[in-house]
Amino acid sequence: MDVRQPLPLLGGLSPAQFMRLHWHKKPLLVRQAIAGFTPPVGRSALLQMAGQEEVESRLIQQRDGRWLLRHGPLPRRSIPSLNTPQWTVLVQGVDLHNDAVHALLQRFAFVPQARLDDLMISYASDGGGVGPHFDSYDVFLLQAQGRRRWRIGRQKNPRLLPDLPVKILAQFEPEEEYLLEPGDMLYLPPGWAHDGVAEGECMTYSIGFRSPDSAGLAHEVLLRMADAAADETDAPLYRDPKQSAVATPGAIPAQLQDFARNAVQQILADPQALECALGEALTEPKPNVWFEPSQGPALMERVELDRRTRMMYDARHIFINGESWQAEGQDAQLMQRLADTRALSPQEVASASDQALELLAAWCDAGWAHARSAKAE
Ligand code: SIN
Ligand code: CO
Repeated sequence: MDVRQPLPLLGGLSPAQFMRLHWHKKPLLVRQAIAGFTPPVGRSALLQMAGQEEVESRLIQQRDGRWLLRHGPLPRRSIPSLNTPQWTVLVQGVDLHNDAVHALLQRFAFVPQARLDDLMISYASDGGGVGPHFDSYDVFLLQAQGRRRWRIGRQKNPRLLPDLPVKILAQFEPEEEYLLEPGDMLYLPPGWAHDGVAEGECMTYSIGFRSPDSAGLAHEVLLRMADAAADETDAPLYRDPKQSAVATPGAIPAQLQDFARNAVQQILADPQALECALGEALTEPKPNVWFEPSQGPALMERVELDRRTRMMYDARHIFINGESWQAEGQDAQLMQRLADTRALSPQEVASASDQALELLAAWCDAGWAHARSAKAE
């Protein structure tokens, strides 16, 4: 993607300008971000998805002034009738289940894949919404069908109403109000309070991002680094030929503390180990994701990543679905291109080394990628 090219999606800003002026800084309303937008997943497909075990969904309803929450799977009979007002069904990670929705998410690939989370779709009956709240992540709210009135504001007081199943701000002070029509989009930075209320039946697509917190990320990375270190067969054993006899056997020897400290410092001192663990952690598929292995060899002229595959790279490694490979030279460039564009052309496949082709074939067998004939391009 040419990040200096102005995009209707960003109201005529280029991705470079958007990131400089708005990302993490201030909201942006874009009228007709996608003119003539036809939602790839409509109401009945969405409500059907909400009933599936492997799909993450919620039903939020306001009844007699109370907020009710039910987690999915949501059988059709648990969803209120379409003419009952003030309810909404939210389905998370629709990009994992639908190619067209995945393609829509890729329009936002001017943000690193490591930060892109998922595309959530909400369907609401008249008056439905999730109430005034704020999220800790950036979000693009794309109006897909019907109309939604958004009220937004910088939140001074983050206090929530107590004892509710949903996060509702105790004191919401909106500063701006917009009525979004199909194809309109609102970008909100983290922490901006917002309340979107459906006017008639309404569907909103939310493009969400993920921001790891430092403790959680350290936990994941350290676990992986420790696992990798534990696999090393030549790790030195603790030895204590100078240990004297003790009258206090419960006390941990200082020498053993030093041994442990050195062991941990050695693992941390290897920059590659940290980078490798980070890449593996960032590409680990979500727990509800699985791949269907391919049905036998196909003619590998063009290669496309499966919509569920997460693929990234750093200067020395290629990461795909929680696994890593060291790569350099032309093969590394080819795999980096696959990670960036999620596909390789027949010319690119033809230029791959035998080793790279073997890897691509193994990923196709596992269902992580798909071999297509050149005609499908
Ligand atoms: C919605 O689609 O109703 C909720 C989206 C959000 O507030 O983040
Ligand atoms: Co929100």
